[in-house]
Amino acid sequence: MAENLKMYIGGAWVDARSGDTFDSIDPATGGALATVPRGASLDVDLAVAAARRAFDGGTWGSAVAERERARILFRIAQLVAEQRQSLAELEVRDCGKPIGDALADIDEVAFMFEYYGGWATKITGDIPPVGPDAMSLVVKEPVGVCGLIVPWNYPMLMAAQKVAPALAAGCTVVLKPAEQTPLTALRMAAIAEQAGLPAGVFNVVTGFGVEAGAPLLTHPGVDKISFTGSRAIGMMIQRTCADQLKRVTLELGGKSPNIIFGDADIERAVVGSALGVFGNQGEVCSAGSRVLVHRSVYDDVLQGMTDFAAGMKLGSGLDPETTMGPLVSAAQRDRVQAYIDAGPGEGANLVFSGQRPNDPALANGYFVPPAIFEATNDIRLAREEIFGPVAAVIPFSDVDEVVRLANDTEYGLAAAIWTRDIGLALRTAKAVRAGVVWINDSQPAPTESMWGGYKQSGIGRELGPYALDTYLESKQIYINLS
Ligand code: NAI
Ligand code: MG
Repeated sequence: MAENLKMYIGGAWVDARSGDTFDSIDPATGGALATVPRGASLDVDLAVAAARRAFDGGTWGSAVAERERARILFRIAQLVAEQRQSLAELEVRDCGKPIGDALADIDEVAFMFEYYGGWATKITGDIPPVGPDAMSLVVKEPVGVCGLIVPWNYPMLMAAQKVAPALAAGCTVVLKPAEQTPLTALRMAAIAEQAGLPAGVFNVVTGFGVEAGAPLLTHPGVDKISFTGSRAIGMMIQRTCADQLKRVTLELGGKSPNIIFGDADIERAVVGSALGVFGNQGEVCSAGSRVLVHRSVYDDVLQGMTDFAAGMKLGSGLDPETTMGPLVSAAQRDRVQAYIDAGPGEGANLVFSGQRPNDPALANGYFVPPAIFEATNDIRLAREEIFGPVAAVIPFSDVDEVVRLANDTEYGLAAAIWTRDIGLALRTAKAVRAGVVWINDSQPAPTESMWGGYKQSGIGRELGPYALDTYLESKQIYINLS
C-alpha cells in the first residue's frame, strides 16, 4: 500500500483543497510509492499568503536577527546529516539513481544548509564615497516571497540549492517539487519544522507543472521565481514573469562538449568522460553528451568508452552493485529511446548499446541502457538535450576546429577539457562559451563555488555567494550631512 502524504502550507500538513491526489512512482518497478496531494491554484494562493504573512509580518526576513536565521539553517543541516541514510533511500526509490550517488547528494544538501547558514550573518553592504557633505549606504535586503520550481534529476539537492540561500537571505519560499519526485521535498519541510523554522517561511506545494507551478508565475504575491528545468519551460517562465517584472533565475539544460586532446591521460579521460555522460543515467543538465576527440586518440577513446559502458551494471538503485538506475519516468524513457532509435536514420553510427537488467522484478522499470554513437555536430543527436545515457562521439583535428565545434550549440552550460598541456587547457577554457569549465575532470559542482549557464542554458548564477545575490535587493540610503 502506498503511503498517503500531505503537503506543507503555513506550518500545517494539508491535503489539496480539491482533495485530489496523485501517485509518485518508483521508476525501477513502475509501482506506486506514495500518494501526494495534487496541488493547484487554490493551494498556491494559500501557500503564497502564508509566505507573504511570514515575510511582511516579521516572522522572517529583515525583522529576524541574522544569527537566528543562521542557527536554524545549521539545525536543518544537522538533521539532514542525521537522516542521511533514510533520505538517500527515499531519493533512490523516488527517482531511481544509485544509492552511492544519492548519499553524495544528501551529504551535499546538509553541507549546503551549513554553508548558507554561515552566510546568513555575513551579508554586508557598501559605503560608496559621495563627497564631503553626504553619506551613501548601500544595504542588502531580502527580495521577498520566492517561488522555487525544481526538477527530478537531483530532487533534494536542486531544492536545497534554492531553499538554503533563499532562507539565508531572509526570503520566504513556496517550493514546487517535480511531480515525478516530490518525496524528499516533503521530508525537507518536516526537517525544517523540526529545526524550528517558523510557520509560513517554507511551504511545499506538490503537484504538476501546469497546475501547481504555473500559478506561482502569475501570482502578484510572489516577488521572484527561481527555476531549474527544461529550456522550453524556462523560456515560458521568463515571458510570463515579464508581466509583473518578477525577478527570475533560470538554470536550464545543455549539450555540453567534453574535449579530449591527443596528449591527455587517456585512461582518466575515458573514465571521466564516460561518467560525465552516463553518470546519473545521463539525467544531468551539464552532462558531457558531446564527446569531441582528437583524431590521434579517437579509436582508443571510442574503445575505452565502449568497454566502460559495457561494464556498467543496470539495476535497482538500492542494490549497491548498481551503477546505472532506471530513468525517472516512462515519458523520459520513451523520449530518450526515440533519440536512440532515430540516430542511425540521421547518419549516426551506433557503436554500442547495453543490456536491460534481467531481474524479473524490474521488468516494468524504465531502464534505457547506455548508447554510444559516432556522430557529426549537425544532427539532432548532437544538438538537442537528450537527458539520458546517450553519447555522441565526434572527431576533431586541431584546437581551432574543436573550439568551433564546442561553441556550435545554442547552449552554454558546461565544458570539460582533457589534456596535460596547461597552456592548451587554459586557452581552450577561455575560448569556450560556457558557464562552467572543468579541466581534467567532469561534473564536480562544489557548493562554495559558482554554477550557471551562458546563452540558452540560463540566466543568473547559483551556488556560492552568487546564489545569495539572486535573493537580495540592494537599497541606497542617502544622508545629507550639510
Ligand atoms: P520540465 O521543465 O517540464 O519540469 C521541471 C519543473 O518545472 C517541474 O517541477 C515541473 O512540474 C515544472 N513545470 C512544468 N511545466 C510548468 C509550467 N507550465 N509552469 C510552471 N512550472 C512548470 O521538465 P520535464 O518535462 O520533466 O523534462 C523534459 C526535459 O527537460 C528533459 O528531457 C530534459 O531535457 C529537460 N530537463 C532539464 C533539467 C535540468 O536540470 N536542466 C531538469 C529536468 C528536465
Ligand atoms: Mg517518483
